[in-house]
Amino acid sequence: MWAIQATRFGDPEVLAIREMPDPVAGPGQGVVEVSVADVLFVETQIRRGLAREYFTVEPPYVPGSAVAGQVISVGESVDPGWVGRRVAAHTGGGGGYAERVAVPADGLIPVPDGLGVREAAALLHDGPTALGVFEEARIRPGESVLVTAAAGGMGVLLVQLAHTAGARVTAAARGKQKLDVAREMGAVSVVDYSRPGWPERVREACGGGGPDVVFDGAGGQIGGAAFEITAPGGRFSAHGAPSGGFAEFDPREAERRGVTVRGIEDVRFAPAKVKRLAARALAEAAAGRMRPVIGQTFPLARAADAHAAMEARDVVGKTLLLLT
Ligand SMILES: NC(=O)c1ccc[n+]([C@@H]2O[C@H](COP(=O)([O-])OP(=O)(O)OC[C@H]3O[C@@H](n4cnc5c(N)ncnc54)[C@H](OP(=O)(O)O)[C@@H]3O)[C@@H](O)[C@H]2O)c1
Repeated sequence: MWAIQATRFGDPEVLAIREMPDPVAGPGQGVVEVSVADVLFVETQIRRGLAREYFTVEPPYVPGSAVAGQVISVGESVDPGWVGRRVAAHTGGGGGYAERVAVPADGLIPVPDGLGVREAAALLHDGPTALGVFEEARIRPGESVLVTAAAGGMGVLLVQLAHTAGARVTAAARGKQKLDVAREMGAVSVVDYSRPGWPERVREACGGGGPDVVFDGAGGQIGGAAFEITAPGGRFSAHGAPSGGFAEFDPREAERRGVTVRGIEDVRFAPAKVKRLAARALAEAAAGRMRPVIGQTFPLARAADAHAAMEARDVVGKTLLLLT
């Protein structure tokens, strides 16, 4: 089979297409014929060899932690009824950027009727994290919510969830195209954070007092500025780090202003919870209540271009690799 291998740490070009042996389902595993592989921003950071205290993978490795497709075989102690079913699955590590991958069978999630495998793959990571982060924030109707990196794969889901919960959503992102997408998702105001003075515009959009809830998908200085304007007694989710690190702020300042901060560790859910939330996200999407935005797709052989586009911030919503 064909697979993408990160041959060493470095620029996107280290991702090379390679012929590799087909996987065989071991005990407790199923082999998925991959139709779609999810691409995450964090996979570009791992490929660069960043954050090695969290990610211990060493090249050469096949990236890809979530796929959707069809089960073609199962190993010992797995229900053979899975064979032939359309599924979405976490790979339990890497291996997703490939024509076939062996995955833990207890993580297989059937793709509901009426939902495409692309949408299922698009929701497998972003859906559970968005639902988990959203639930933690306990948004009440009428509250003001700021979402940064609002046109990212998860950002668009958070905008939708907060809007549906009756919040007044301000979306912050870079550039008109991304802001237009965020508006379509339900944001009542949009702010371009590549422009100076953006935090003041967010404050104005929130009626002068700052947002009650911030979902920060951007991190770094953007996240730090969003923290500064969070309303006293507000909630701040510091889950995003695409700008190079999580939101920069002083925890004593959070305490002083009574701002509850949740970090990345709060969105590292146990596998059973991830599976439950993922199944719910797929069901919500099948029912038309949640919509992933698939902004761009690439064939497997162009995985390097997918990574380059993400790093250049040229992508909107979700980026996927298509195999069939
Ligand atoms: N998806 C998950 O399951 C999950 C789980 C845990 C944590 N996270 C974190 O949450 C973040 C947001 O998730 P997402 O899925 O909405 O985002 P995404 O699709 O990975 O896109 C990242 C977004 O970050 C923004 N960004 C800001 N600074 C950037 C930079 N220097 N380089 C590249 N992009 C930059 C980009 O928008 P602008 O150009 O508009 O700024 C882009 O839309 C992730 O990047 C990750 O750090 C995600």
